[in-house]
Amino acid sequence: SGQQRRYVIGVSQCSDDEWREQMNREITREALFYPEAEVVFRSAGDDNKRQIHDIELLMRNKVDLLVVSPNEADAITPVIEKAYSKGIPVILVDRKIHSNQYTAYIGADNYAIGYNVGEYIASRLQGKGRVVEVTGLRGSTPAAERHRGMTDALREYPDIRVTASVDAGWRRDRARLVFDSLLTHAPEIDMVFAHNDRMAAGAYEAAVKYGREKEMLFVGIDALAGEGYGVEQVASGQLDATFIYPTGGDRVMQTAMAILTGKPYEHDVALSSALVNKGNARVMRMQTGQIRQLDEKIDMLDKRINHFLTRYASQRVLLYTCVVM
Ligand code: FRU
Repeated sequence: SGQQRRYVIGVSQCSDDEWREQMNREITREALFYPEAEVVFRSAGDDNKRQIHDIELLMRNKVDLLVVSPNEADAITPVIEKAYSKGIPVILVDRKIHSNQYTAYIGADNYAIGYNVGEYIASRLQGKGRVVEVTGLRGSTPAAERHRGMTDALREYPDIRVTASVDAGWRRDRARLVFDSLLTHAPEIDMVFAHNDRMAAGAYEAAVKYGREKEMLFVGIDALAGEGYGVEQVASGQLDATFIYPTGGDRVMQTAMAILTGKPYEHDVALSSALVNKGNARVMRMQTGQIRQLDEKIDMLDKRINHFLTRYASQRVLLYTCVVM
């Protein structure tokens, strides 16, 4: 519709994957409630240089606000400080930087999630066993925090040993490769903790190749709904458990608009997490299925409204032409 777009919000995502897509979808959906705003998305494919370029580009295009999920903290800190010092509000989502030069942060507590994973591992292994950790990109803050959380929790359990910790950069293919070579070296593994469900799936695939997937338990993070993702991996028994890592796109959009229109907003929005295991995966699957159906209905309504508005506009033109004739 011909509504005036007064605000442009630039979103710079570090990666392209189902988790990012879900967040972007939520942002787009929430933006329906703010016709005065337009959102533009950039995706950096896990590449620091590309993300710096994306942010520079959004700045040159004079966006009114930036939403950034920084690929690696060290690399992305300077360009964010630059934007912030120019007076562009910056909302960090999910990943952080090494600076306080930003307007708001929205995300779950990754240290706490890592700590809960550690406790979960200890209880599942009854205080004794060998763990392999497949980490996210080392220079990204969730990987560092999840690692630190798990390590701190396991300090209480001297008979649990983390025999290897390998970086698979948040990617499934890389997790499959690194875990494949680990399997040929590590004789005994009781538990695999992957920093996300995608990497857990990659590690699982490698274990299947050697017929060893039943020897060990797999734990991940994210718990996305939908075919092949975390909740289903748990329901099918591929994953022993996963922890919800909320995408929070609606909160991102609400916070962005509060900042832009001078309304109060929280500087730190803490999204919450929860354990998904065999006991609740089925219920969760049912509920997320229902939510998806509602989502589709909302999309359909939006399309119908747009269709109606276009028709209404052309009828008005027609009427006007009739009157002047
Ligand atoms: C998505 C993702 C998630 C992970 C998060 C950490 O790009 O890799 O799987 O939980 O980023 O920042």
